[in-house]
Amino acid sequence: MGNAGVSTAGGRSLLVVANRLPVDRVTEPDGTQSWRRSPGGLVAALEPVMRRGGGAWVGWSGIPGEAPQPFTQDGTTLVPVSLTARDVAEYYEGFSNSTLWPLYHDVIVPAVYERQFWDAYVRVNRRFAEAAAEVAEERALVWVQDYQLQLVPAMLRELRPDVRIGFFLHIPFPPDELFQQLPWRTQILEGLLGADLVGFQRTGAATNFIRLCRRLLGYGYRRDRIFADHRVVRAQAFPISVDSARLSELAGRPETMQRAREIRAELGDPAKLLLGVDRLDYTKGLRHRLTAFDELLAEGKIKSSEVAFVQIATPSRERVEQYRVLRDEIELQIGRINGERSRLGTPVVHYLHTSYSQDELVAMYCAADVMVVTPLRDGMNLVAKEYVACRNDRRGALVLSEFAGAAVELRRAFLVNPHDIDGLKETLLRALRADPAELGRRMGTLRRHVLEHDVNRWADRFLDALTRG
Ligand code: F6P
Repeated sequence: MGNAGVSTAGGRSLLVVANRLPVDRVTEPDGTQSWRRSPGGLVAALEPVMRRGGGAWVGWSGIPGEAPQPFTQDGTTLVPVSLTARDVAEYYEGFSNSTLWPLYHDVIVPAVYERQFWDAYVRVNRRFAEAAAEVAEERALVWVQDYQLQLVPAMLRELRPDVRIGFFLHIPFPPDELFQQLPWRTQILEGLLGADLVGFQRTGAATNFIRLCRRLLGYGYRRDRIFADHRVVRAQAFPISVDSARLSELAGRPETMQRAREIRAELGDPAKLLLGVDRLDYTKGLRHRLTAFDELLAEGKIKSSEVAFVQIATPSRERVEQYRVLRDEIELQIGRINGERSRLGTPVVHYLHTSYSQDELVAMYCAADVMVVTPLRDGMNLVAKEYVACRNDRRGALVLSEFAGAAVELRRAFLVNPHDIDGLKETLLRALRADPAELGRRMGTLRRHVLEHDVNRWADRFLDALTRG
């Protein structure tokens, strides 16, 4: 039994278990190794939670091979778990990102069912459970994260019955008819039921889970309580959020405002700047938004001399076939749009296939008139909330897909169905043409929500519910 972690509510220490550590190990061109912040919303949300309370974090370093020794960063003890190249191919790229990811996102692309991938998922989940069992303090709160580790709760319970186990799913949980496709559906449900509390982004997802436990395992339930053999497991929604106060403070700094002005100047001072910030993923609706933008230009409803579209596409899961295909498609589409619609020296779409520091992203949010968030399916989408938190000036329009979890809370955004290209075009135009008074009213309401419902509140609600039992 280990000694990682500091005390939280009720005198229990906190241990986070996630596929990735908050930092990724990177090899620089000169061969030296360093650590860089990991991509994605999970790390963005949990980093501030850990910063305030310390604790420990079990996860993968992001590269195959032997795990580095545990180390401490910003008060958190990081405990690396090793993945071999085969584990990465079969557990991470395979079962996690070619089976579960598409299945849980409405099979936007087909899900792959490979028995070898499943075997790897079981093997690697056991490794994470053993690492957690090793370092968790007596009676710790162990908070397991996301779809890559759904078997860990039950495996950990076997090894460490003294700890309290929470699980949070950052992505959608599918309706029964989709979930039932999964050949290993009962094992996944049993794995999750090892937790005391299972958290989802939306109430509908918790309901899907509860119904599946009834249908496939025969467990009774009452409201959010599932009666699983001799234990009671709760399944509830806890919509995740961002560190709103910190983002707002960063956005208000003179150097950020200066950088926002510079960004607009570097883009040729367009009358209107549209921005997209996404991992390069087929769930994000990139093709849909580009098609809508292109058609608006082609029809003369907007002019390339007056608008610029900046699309930041963070590289993601680049060895998974569907992601390679997507990258080619997006780059072809942007090449075409720029070839047909741009003027000499000023491309109308600025495509940046890279990740940015938080400071630079905040400046971009402050510079953008219209934030375009059009996923076809998304657990929450923290970019939408980050944009709102940064707009201290109450300017800026958020165009938001109805299929993002964030749309449940951010009702005053310009909501849109991204599959409806005409509707998307019309919504983009409304956002571009909205007067400052309307933008102020909408953004004021959105900001009140995001500033109050921040990531600390999310973590407190979850951890309180887990502690109270
Ligand atoms: O929130 C979804 C999620 O898959 C996280 O679990 C993950 O850390 C993030 O997106 C980024 O994805 P990946 O770790 O595969 O690069």
